[in-house]
Amino acid sequence: MRPLIAGNWKMHGLLSHLLEIDTIAASVSVKLPDADILICPPATLIVRAAELAAGRVAIGGQNCHCEISGEFTGDISAEMLKDAGASTVIVGHSERRQHHGETDAMVAEKAKAAWRAGLLAIICVGETQAQREAGNALTVCGAQIAASVPENMVSPSNAVAYEPLWAIGSGHVPTASQITEMHVHIRRCLVERLGEQGMELRILYGGSVKPDNAPAILALPEVNGALIGGASLKAADFLEILGALPPGH
Ligand code: 13P
Repeated sequence: MRPLIAGNWKMHGLLSHLLEIDTIAASVSVKLPDADILICPPATLIVRAAELAAGRVAIGGQNCHCEISGEFTGDISAEMLKDAGASTVIVGHSERRQHHGETDAMVAEKAKAAWRAGLLAIICVGETQAQREAGNALTVCGAQIAASVPENMVSPSNAVAYEPLWAIGSGHVPTASQITEMHVHIRRCLVERLGEQGMELRILYGGSVKPDNAPAILALPEVNGALIGGASLKAADFLEILGALPPGH
């Protein structure tokens, strides 16, 4: 399965930061990576980022509304992201679930909106520290998959990202066996939900992926790529992570 290395800039990045995308795009056009590369900058930068990346790096949004248009002040539709040059959108990131009250049902509607607009969706799931400590990590993520992955999620280019909340921005990374156990579980849940097609979706790991831990994480056979926050803000770090992909992964 071709890996996907995706950067989520979150609420970081002014026009001057486009230089980082320029650097990443220049580097990947010299040495073609054995992976799909995606950067999700703030919505304000998508048009310019897509022009600069010129197809060498895919550009994505970080969220979308489920409607095409309407009286939803401050929201952005999947069609608008597509029109701006995005190919993909992240939905159900834990920061959206936490700070904007997004439920599994809302996340599923957003994923469907993404496909309606011709975008790929990256659907995020993950447990809190307390849920892991209570021994509920697998159940929590399984329930999130069941309720936030629409039944007709079939394109192999779509992805699920496992992002344990306690690993995001904390410098704490699950052990290799915790990541493997969860990715195997998510795969099983996807197959239960989608049949054979569930084998084709990429399952990304996200949460404190850095140049130093990326080789070990990306070498795990069940990990089909990464969703990177802080370390995607600097081209040098992002390119180092890209360089950590095992050959022929
Ligand atoms: P960090 O890589 O900064 O921990 O963020 C992970 C994340 O939330 C990506 O979506």
